[in-house]
Order: sequence, then structure tokens, then C-alpha cells
Amino acid sequence: MDRILVLDFGGQYNQLIARRVREQHVYAEIRPYDGISPEEISEGGYSGIIFTGGPNSVYDPGSPHYDPEILDAGIPILGICYGAQLIAWMARGEVGSAENSSEYGKTAVRTGESVLFRELPGESVCWMSHTDYIRRAPAGFSVTAVTDKCPCAAMEDAGRKIYAVQFHPEVTHTEYGRQILAAFLFSVCGCAGDWDARDSAARLIEKYREELAGRKVLLALSGGVDSSVAALLLHRAVGEDLTCVFVDHGLLRKGEGDRVEEMFRGRFGVKLIRVDAADRFLERLAGVTDPETKRRIIGEEFIRVFEEEGKKIGHVHALAQGTIYPDVIESGKGASAVIKSHHNVGGLPDVISFDRIVEPLRDFFKDEVRSIGRMLGLPEDMVTRQPFPGPGLAVRIIGEVTRDRITMLQEADAVFREEIGRLDMTERPDQYFAVLTDTHTVGVMGDARTYGYTAALRAVSTDDFMTAEWSRIPYEILERASSRITNEVAGISRVVYDISSKPPATVEWE
Ligand code: XMP
Repeated sequence: MDRILVLDFGGQYNQLIARRVREQHVYAEIRPYDGISPEEISEGGYSGIIFTGGPNSVYDPGSPHYDPEILDAGIPILGICYGAQLIAWMARGEVGSAENSSEYGKTAVRTGESVLFRELPGESVCWMSHTDYIRRAPAGFSVTAVTDKCPCAAMEDAGRKIYAVQFHPEVTHTEYGRQILAAFLFSVCGCAGDWDARDSAARLIEKYREELAGRKVLLALSGGVDSSVAALLLHRAVGEDLTCVFVDHGLLRKGEGDRVEEMFRGRFGVKLIRVDAADRFLERLAGVTDPETKRRIIGEEFIRVFEEEGKKIGHVHALAQGTIYPDVIESGKGASAVIKSHHNVGGLPDVISFDRIVEPLRDFFKDEVRSIGRMLGLPEDMVTRQPFPGPGLAVRIIGEVTRDRITMLQEADAVFREEIGRLDMTERPDQYFAVLTDTHTVGVMGDARTYGYTAALRAVSTDDFMTAEWSRIPYEILERASSRITNEVAGISRVVYDISSKPPATVEWE
């Protein structure tokens, strides 16, 4: 299997680079620049290396650098943005910094003779985001692209298979980005393009069957995409030896607990323990209004419930978690051994006695996890499920969490989701839900005064949930949702739409 190393110098698009490579069916892994030595790279069997962008200047003291020996390792290299400047610097070219040479956003680029640009017209649009620039290409390199401000927007030493582009081919605003990456992967690195996340998953199933069959495997199932796909994958591998514990804290969306149970136990025949723990969660949440206290209580109680169930099961060989690749990367330790405390299952490793942790999805991006889920037969509504916070509706109920208020929110939320469901998949926001505020307002119904709660509707569009824009959903949808909620949900007499982006607001209200 061909592998591309994405050497991470701290840029904001690094995960995107790896995803773009994988989209072309070539496996890519991200490693921090200070987490892998030139020897490891040389012996790692990589077909190519991509140096990522980064926020630094090569001249900053302490800016990320790499051993220049790597240029002579005989492995094709593509440097992007900071990565391109770093190559220039390593090979003794000249990197400059000038206010008037910085470029940001869509920029016209003129490309010349290069294997990378074979499919491009002479002039096209690329995405730039830089202040420093390559003032002079190093000896042995030829300049292959320029912009109005950039005398070296791309350069290469084709003999050594070293390429550098100042712009970002991984960003969709770069018109021919996909072709440029494809040329590097296939024409320069000679990759076959035969990698598929689903084949990897099939191999994992075989591997776990050999390693785990006949031994107890325990998984905390939330019904979210990651834990669901991890559960199905392990169920394929070890069948009855897998036990899933699904803690229903009573703070799920309408009908969700039953749906998860019916799906996993009913349809897939997974050994599932559903713990109906709503009473004990509500008891502990009584009178609590502070968001962080709510989160802490729910986290603690979750672990207690799980611990009790774990004790009933006895010694567990493997504790399985739905950790996915971005979690591994974000933990900052690259591919080194990381045991991630997932939001939803944080602390479990401390209270369950087990021999090993199994994270079947730790090499996959979210879209790949989804395609594995489809392959395993997970229905589309669960595959494309929006993210849902571990503390559930408790962080969408401002003020005290009571049974009545949970029901009110579940109903309002179900209406809003149903209305958004009228939109085509492609038009739907990435996350949308209702919030129950603690504000009462005066209303009128028939001839009578009402004094009900205000519900807020929230819908955001985002790539990674680190930043998000409020969604411009059609007025008709808002109108129907508002009218239905105030008519159908007793206790809510006003509906508002949240038009805050992140930052400064977060997606959730608490
Ligand atoms: P915020 O509110 O931080 O949310 O902008 C970003 C994304 O994370 C989800 N979220 C959580 N997910 N446990 C989770 O598993 C949590 O405690 C939690 N808090 C927020 C949120 O729904 C959004 O998708």
C-alpha cells in the first residue's frame, strides 16, 4: 500500500491535505515535524512527503525546521506555503518578507512547464495566504509559477523530485488543486491509487477476529456515528464477545434511546445493555443551573453508571472506543500511543479493569468513518447524524433541567428537525437543534394572556466545528417551525432564531 507522509508544521489546513490525498485513494498519515526522524522517514517506506503550511517565518527563532538531509533521501517532496519556503531555505535559496508581497485569498497564478501543472491552463486561480515569500529559488531549482506579487509561486528540482508551491492546492478555492495533488501523487510519486477506507476496515475486522475472539470486549455506545460504527465493526469481528453499554441519561433527543436500542439489538443482534438512568441523572441535576456544574455532574454520573455495569460484566479484555483520526492528531502526539479521553466516555479507562484499549477507527477521518458505516449496513440517518454533545439536552436547557422542560425541548427540537428535513441533504445545515431558554415572555392566545418560555433555534454550517457560520435557512422553514412549535408545544410561546457565528458564540448555548 502506498503511503504519503504529511509532515505537519502547524498550518491550519493540515488535516485537509491528508483528506485530499485520501480522496484520491492514496493513504496519507500526518506526523508532527518533531515527532519523526529522517531515519524513520527513510525506512518508513513512504512514496512521498508533503510539507504542510504553518504560521511561522523560517527566520523566526524557534520556528519549525527539519533536517535538510531529507531533501537527499530520494523520496519525492511537495512543500506547501510555509513548507515551500522551508524547502527554499533548506536548499539555500532566499526567503523574504515584505508587507507589499503578502497575498491573501483568491489570486491569479501563471503556471509554466511542470509535471504538476500539465492539466492547467496558463493562468488560473489559486488560494494564497502568506506574508513571507520565496525571493530567489535555490540553485538547481527552476521557477514554475508566478503571480503579480510573487516572483516564485512554485519551484521544482525535478531531478530530485522536489516540488514547492506557495499557494494551497488542498483548498477548493484553488481551481486546479485536485489536479496538482493528483499529478504529485501519481506522476511524481507513482502511487497506484488503490487505497479505500472500506478495504482497511475489512482488514481490521479480520485482525480483530484473530486477536480478540473468545475474549470480552466492552464498548460505551452513545448512538453517535463514531461509537456506532466502532460497535458494528467489532461486532462483525467478535460477535457475542462484544458487549455494548448504552447509558440513557434521559437527556437524549425525542425517540433516540428507543431507536438506538432497536437498531443495535433488534436489527444487528448486538449484545446491548441499555441502562435507563434518567432518574438518577435528574436527581443529581435538581436545582443546578451552572453550565459547567451540569457537565461535571453528567460526566461523573455517567462514569458511575458505567462502572456499576462494568462490575457486573467482570474482567474485560478490551475496552473499545470510537476515537477517530482527528482526535488522535489533535491530541498533539501524532501516531504515537495515545489513549484519548473522549468527551463522552472520559474517565472510563480509570474505572474499568481491562488489558488493552481498542480504537478501530483511529486511522480514519469522519467521512471515511461514514463510508465504513454504510458498508456495515448502518442506515443513512445514523451515518449522517449530526454531532450531539455528551451532556445531551442538559446543555440546551438554560437554567434548571426538569422532566417537563426536557419534554418541552424534545418536542420543539423534533419539530425543527422535521422541518429542516424538508430541505435537500445538500442544503441542510451541518448542525441544527432547538434550545430552551429560561426567558418567559408575554404572549396572547385566543383572548388570553400567556407567559411561556422562549425557544431558540440554532443552525450552523461548518467544516470542522472549530468555527461555524449561522445558516441562512429559508424563511418558510423558520416560519413553519415557529408556528408549529408555539401551537404544538405547551409552555413555549415565542421562538427566536440565533444569528450568531462561532466565534464569538459557541455552537451550543452552554
Ligand atoms: P461548541 O459549543 O464548543 O461545539 O462550539 C462544537 C461542537 O462540539 C459539540 N459539543 C460536544 N460534543 N461533548 C461532545 O461530545 C460535549 O461536551 C460537547 N460540547 C459541545 C457541539 O454539539 C458542536 O458540534
